[in-house]
Parts: sequence; structure tokens; C-alpha cells
Amino acid sequence: MAIFYNEETKTFYLEGKGISYVFGINETNFPEHYYFGTRIGRDELRYTTEHNIGDSADTALPGQIHAGGKSYNLYRSEFSFYGNGELRECSFSMLFGSGSRINDFNYETHEILPEKPALSGMPSMRGGETLKLTLKDKNSEMRVHLFYTVYDDAAVVARRMEVENRTAESVKILRAYSFALDVYGNDHDLLTLENAWGRENRPERTHLPHGTLMIDEKSGSSTRHHAPAFALLDRDTTEERGNALGVSLIYSTSFVLKAQVSTKGYTRLTGGINDFDFCWVLDAGETFATPEAVLAFSDEGIGGMSREFHDAYRNHLINPRYVKKPRPIVINSWEAVYFDPSPARLMPIIDAVKGTGIDTFVLDDGWFGARRNDRAGLGDWVVSKDVYPEGLAPIIDHAHKAGMKFGIWFEPEMVNPDSDLFRAHPDWAISVPGVEPCVARRQLVLDITRADVRDYIVEAVSKILRENEIDYVKWDFNRALTENFSRALPAEREQELHHRYALGFYDICERLVNGFPHIFFEGCAGGGGRFDPAVLYYFPQIWASDDTDAYMRTQIQHGTSIFYPLSAISCHTSICPNHQTNRTLPFKTRADIAHLGATGYELDTTKITSEEIGEVKTQVADYKEMQDLVLEGDLYRLENTFESNYFAQMIVSKDKSRAHITVMRALCRPNDEHKRIFPRGLDKNAIYEVVNEEYELKMRLSGAAIMNVGLVINLKTLDQKMPGDFKTFIFKLVKIA
Ligand code: DGJ
Repeated sequence: MAIFYNEETKTFYLEGKGISYVFGINETNFPEHYYFGTRIGRDELRYTTEHNIGDSADTALPGQIHAGGKSYNLYRSEFSFYGNGELRECSFSMLFGSGSRINDFNYETHEILPEKPALSGMPSMRGGETLKLTLKDKNSEMRVHLFYTVYDDAAVVARRMEVENRTAESVKILRAYSFALDVYGNDHDLLTLENAWGRENRPERTHLPHGTLMIDEKSGSSTRHHAPAFALLDRDTTEERGNALGVSLIYSTSFVLKAQVSTKGYTRLTGGINDFDFCWVLDAGETFATPEAVLAFSDEGIGGMSREFHDAYRNHLINPRYVKKPRPIVINSWEAVYFDPSPARLMPIIDAVKGTGIDTFVLDDGWFGARRNDRAGLGDWVVSKDVYPEGLAPIIDHAHKAGMKFGIWFEPEMVNPDSDLFRAHPDWAISVPGVEPCVARRQLVLDITRADVRDYIVEAVSKILRENEIDYVKWDFNRALTENFSRALPAEREQELHHRYALGFYDICERLVNGFPHIFFEGCAGGGGRFDPAVLYYFPQIWASDDTDAYMRTQIQHGTSIFYPLSAISCHTSICPNHQTNRTLPFKTRADIAHLGATGYELDTTKITSEEIGEVKTQVADYKEMQDLVLEGDLYRLENTFESNYFAQMIVSKDKSRAHITVMRALCRPNDEHKRIFPRGLDKNAIYEVVNEEYELKMRLSGAAIMNVGLVINLKTLDQKMPGDFKTFIFKLVKIA
């Protein structure tokens, strides 16, 4: 049993892989948090709720004369609401018709469900035993339902909330976060990922002062400025050791995450839908559901927390049809030809890598309507007669004859003002009548809160997919939402736009992904601008960044892997000098780094040497050998180039019988210090054969020796043969005894 309720002490014990999440219904009938962390027994933890006599800010509960330790401002809340004494960050607030914003929610009932009920209209984790806790407002017929799900194969708790309006009037939901949690301690660090085009997912670690630290997104996309995730760390937590409590939102639009250090020695974590410019009208009888938040815990540091997220998302989120299956190894046209994807340019690019093992050709932007540059054509999903007079059939046949499947690019949510679609339906773009909208990349966003717009998109994309032999779709999304207004919504519902946009996006994904089950979808948003678990639910991998420079990629992939499995991170080998940084790195390095994810190529293959084409063949064969580790293995981040001249990532098979280690030395320094890396995750009692094929190195070492003594990188044999910047060293480990 994963969820246990002690009726006598009114305590809930939620037990996932190696973790306990414990809370109880206290003497004033309020759910109070006791503990989330490493698995403990089913101890009585109510003693932790003894509160000090409150100061004057700690208002007594309604109807009581003296706080005496019973104040909403003192409770360690599972859910918190406005009014009645709560003066910290609330996870919920609403407006009644009377103008009152005051709630007083208390325990009403609960159910333990053997299987998690599906969350309608939004992606969420699949399966898992679930607790549904219902709270009732003392002053009205409002209810909230808190959902908690645990899993025996990942140390996570999935949480979400539903608000049910059982009153007779319409009310307004002003804030409805997915979760709230008060963690013991006021001396934590917060790990966040800053996001910007070309340098996505840069980790930042901040010591939390008293007060509230918030990251949020107002752009209508989940990741333009911050990943929708953070982690609370003990001060001494490192990559390998210490407590790490991560939160990741399964949500694709504007979000907020907050960490508030209170004056009582607790840190409140909360967040979900961004309540900036948000107001949801909830009519009588209706229920509003929040997106799901996934809370992971590990006492094995940031790396341990990452592995829990990876297992959770691989086992319960990403489409099971694809998640552990070998991925297409693509050659993508974008960096090769940009807006000139004519058959005459592309066919030789395909021919050059025929027989190398690259198995999918992806036609990126520029194949449709008047899309000869980024100024026109978005929205017109018809094959351009100028570029493809005979349609797509010749290029598709050409790819097939070269032994490749065919993939194609769409940006379905967007429209250029210079397009037939916009000329026919100017009101389909998100904008306010009479107000000049701002354009970004010369495009506007389609109002997919509208069913007619969604139907158009689904039909236009489906037609191309039906009429052509297509096996792969790259789904792009290149700008933020700004003039947030739908012509189809009544005035009082305009602030529902971002959430409705997400629901519209999920509806389109649902219809296309299920309508074309043989097609593999990849997400993209001008690089990693919408890299979130909700997108991963539909699209098993996401283009992590337009920055294909392998050095920059060591950083981007490091940061992205903190919350997402390697198999979700799409990575390509590109040409040098690199188009984003003008840097030149060895061809092998570019491939070795791209192999730490869903790999592919994106370059004009007619411009590389025949030796390099030969290398592609070897690289693809190498990748196929390690691909199961990328798809299913445990990741250990051994070094990163934010902190070190070296980058090292290691992937270990679940049974610890094989491992792959990629090390990159950024700058070559003559007479450098001896460098060792310390692999992790091996069976310390086993004997492994350690091989570096490039330098004909073969050693037999115990797991204990490898992990404690380390592997030396700049051995003479390894290093002096070919010094240089950005060199990679690959170690393959196989258990032999
Ligand atoms: C942005 C993407 O990130 C690129 O990979 C490429 O698809 C372009 N859009 C095409 O316009």
C-alpha cells in the first residue's frame, strides 16, 4: 500500500520509492504538513505542530479569542487561502459576488484511489495510487480537492488541485496554484534555471533570505525566461550529496513558482498558473482544475533528484509508445540551407550521407506558401509551388531511396500578417481591436482558445500529413503572447486567455498525436523556449537550443538535464565555424556532445570532407551502441563547464553492467595538472573493463577503484597524441565479473 491513513491520529502517510510525505488533519480540522523526505516509518508526527504562542501577526482562528498557537499564519499548510489570519503566500484566492475574498477551508472528506483519475484536458503523470482530499469553505459551499499521487518507481509526489463551485452564483478565481508545502528550515538555497535564446537553462543557485523569491513567466510560453521548475537545497547539498527537493510543473504557459522564508523557521514552496493577469470565472456547478506539479526528493544531491525526475517522466509522462524506443537520427535542413530548401539544394545533402546510418531527413522551415523568408507565409500550410512544383513527392522519394524516412517542420500556432490566412481571418490573431499589435519575428500568434481556429490548424496540418508520406514532425513556436485578448471571449473572461491557450494547445496536440500515431513529433520553440513536461507528454523530445556550438551545448544540456531525461533533449552536430558563436570545435567533439541526448545532424553535408562523411558513419554506429543508455540509463553529471575546464557526463545502465562516459576538456593547457574524473553509480564489487577506443586504452578495474581512485584524463597516452582545445575522451565500461 502506498497511501495509508491512520484514523486515530488523522495522519496521511504517502510512500513512494524511498520517500515519505506525511501530513495530518490537526485539532482545528486543517491539513497540516509534517514531513517530506527520505522514507521514515509511520511515526506519530503531530508533535511537530506544537506552535509557539504567536506574535501579534499571528491572528487567532475565527471564533477564538487568543491565537495560542492556532493561527493560519502558523500552520504548515498543504493549502493556503486568503483571509482569516494567513499572512504568507496563499496558494488560493477568489472573489465572491458580494465582493468578499475570504475563505476558511477545512477537511471534509477523503478517498484513496487505487489508480489516479485522468486530468481532463491537460497532460499529467500516468497511473499511481492517489489521495483525494476534499476541503470545504466554512462560509460557503466552495470545495477544493487536493490530489496526491505516489509511485513505487520514482521518488516523486504529483500534486494538483481542483476548485468546485457548489454555490448558486458565479465566482472569480484569482489564484489557484497547484500545490503548497511548508518545509522545515530557513537556511536553504534555491536552484533555478535561467533561460534565454542561445544559452538556455543556465543553473543559478541563490541563498534564500527571509521574504519571497519568485520566478515566473508572463510570455504565454513556459520557458522563455525561466524553466518551470526549481529545487530547494540544503546549504551543503552538492551534485552528489545532500537533500534536494525539486518542483517541476507540467504546464506550457505562464507560470509562477515561489519560495517564501517565513519568520517562523519554515520555507513555503508554492506555484502553478501565473496569477498575474489571471482571473477565471467559475460558474455555479463548475470545477476548475490546475495543472499538475511534480515534487521530487533525493538525499543524493542534485544528481539524485535529477534521476528521480528522469525516471518519473520516462515511466509515467512521456508517450509510452516512443519513450524507450530508438529515436530517429535526423539530418535537418535548417542550418544547412535556411530559407532555401529547394530539391536542388537538398537532394545532394541527402545523397552525401546516404548509407551512414542517418535514418530521417527533416525538411525545416521554408517549404510552404510564400515562406521564402521569415516575413511571409506562416499559417498557409500548402506546399509552395515555387519551390516544389511537383509537390513534396520527389524529395520524399529521394529520401526514401537513400534509406531515410521523411520529416517536416510546422509552426502551427502562428501567422504572418503577410499570409493568405491572415488576409482571410485577421480576427484569428491574438490582438485587441483598434490596437496595433507588436510583432515578433514578423509574426502574430493565432487565437487557439477558439475552436474554429483549432479546427483550421488540425485540418491544415492533417492534410499535409495525410497526403504525404511523413514520419516525423518538428513543431516550432517562435514568439511570446503579448496583446492578450481573444475576440471570442466575453470581457470578464479575457484574463483566462493564457490558461485557455494552453488548453487549446493540448487539444490540438491530442488530436494530431493521436490522429497520426505512426508519426514521431519533436517540440521546439526557437530553441528551448517551451521546454516543459506538458510538451514532453505529447512530443517525446524537444529541440533544446538553436545554439549548436558543442561547448555551449555542454552547458545547455547540463542545465536541461537537471529536470529532464537525456532522451528528451534533442541535440545536433553542426558545421564549423559554428553559426551562433563562430567557434571551431573538432567534428568528433560536436558528435560526442550531441550523442548525450536524442542525436542528429544539421549541416550542409556537401561541404564536409569524405573523411568526415566516414566519421559520420562511425559516429552513428557508436550512438546506436549507446542509445539504450541515453533512453533508459541513470545519468551522473561528473563535471560541468560552468565550474570547470572539463565537462563529464556518465550514463549507467539500470543493472550497472554497462556505462558510457563522455569527457570534454575545454581549453588545452600545456603542462596541465593531472586530471581525474570520478565516475559514480557503478557496482563497487564488480570488475569492469574500461575501454577508450581512440587511444587503445584497455584496463580492468573494480567498480570501487574506478569510483574512488578515478579515471585519469591527461595520461600521456591519452593526451599528448593530439593536444588541442575542446577534445573529448570517451570511456566505455562493461562489467566482466
Ligand atoms: C527556430 C528553430 O529553433 C530552428 O531550429 C528552426 O526550425 C527555425 N525556427 C525555423 O524558422
